[in-house]
Amino acid sequence: MTCLSCSDLHVSFKLDRCTAKAVRGVSFDIDDKSTLGIVGESGCGKTMTALSLMRLIPDPPGKIEKGSILFEGKDLLKLPEREIRNIRGGRISMVFQDPMSSLNPVYTCGFQIIETINQHLSIPRKQAEELGEKVLSEVGIPDPSRTMTSYPHQLSGGMRQRVMIAMALVCSPRLLIADEPTTALDVTVQAKILDLLHHLRETKSMSMVLITHNLGIVGDIADNVMVMYAGEVMEFTSCKELFENPLHPYTRNLLQTIPQLEVKKERLKVIPGEVPTLQNIPSGCPFHPRCDQASERCRNEHPGLTLSSPDHHVRCFLYDKQA
Ligand SMILES: Nc1ncnc2c1ncn2[C@@H]1O[C@H](COP(=O)(O)OP(=O)(O)OP(=O)(O)O)[C@@H](O)[C@H]1O
Ligand SMILES: [Mg+2]
Repeated sequence: MTCLSCSDLHVSFKLDRCTAKAVRGVSFDIDDKSTLGIVGESGCGKTMTALSLMRLIPDPPGKIEKGSILFEGKDLLKLPEREIRNIRGGRISMVFQDPMSSLNPVYTCGFQIIETINQHLSIPRKQAEELGEKVLSEVGIPDPSRTMTSYPHQLSGGMRQRVMIAMALVCSPRLLIADEPTTALDVTVQAKILDLLHHLRETKSMSMVLITHNLGIVGDIADNVMVMYAGEVMEFTSCKELFENPLHPYTRNLLQTIPQLEVKKERLKVIPGEVPTLQNIPSGCPFHPRCDQASERCRNEHPGLTLSSPDHHVRCFLYDKQA
């Protein structure tokens, strides 16, 4: 069954002199109990897509211009604010990119966890405390009762991230969105948090969206992968297919940037050129200035997202059967 269906999502930002389009016609489905990886370089619209699912785009300057997000029979973009507040943190929850800015430094972790529980479940305080401790232990916190009484600054970065994940899980969401859950952490802690997400994926019956700029990370966890560039979906397919048969030149470039132990003597590849700013997205295919297979057509015409094989979508003229 489909858990969430996003279709033709457009998000824009009002800047001084123009309107910049951060998300341009993004569509995807997430099945129940499956994990979608959203991958792409910085600034390509991953966070804005995720924030739209919770209707958390800062408005102004941001605005969801168009689209629909169907979840449990309702279009989230049409719900009154009161109803979306009930869904946020309850049926859909999110682990934000920056854990320090989303935990409040002046309250204990326990206070913040219980506050989240109280917003969504009407259970007595004692039971809420027990639930909080249970979830903290589920995310691998060794001393949950002590952590309940700790302030965020008293915890290490890895433990803070676990608290964030616990807060997101405490009301048993149907969909968990994790936005770059490991970027602020050192490599060994990163690996532990990824193990935790992997474990949650196996043990909880929820769907997940995992956002990262590192394709290597989604390889272990995601079922499907959506590759984004300049606010658009460039490729969408199963994780297995993406690694075995990557089609878009951008995806192939991203795959070459994954560090591999066997080739550690080689310098890591980088994708030449830069992600375009929203004010000057190139005409035609937005990736054409950085693409070594670009033709005249790519400079002038905007490619649509086409089906190259069942369940493998790609936005590139190289696979355009009509051409
Ligand atoms: N408050 C804002 N005002 C103007 N533009 C914004 C604002 N927030 C985001 N944007 C623009 O929206 C675009 C998409 O941003 P988004 O945060 O979704 O990128 P991202 O893919 O999550 O990148 P990262 O990997 O760096 O987190 C960016 O180009 C950014 O400049
Ligand atoms: Mg982001």
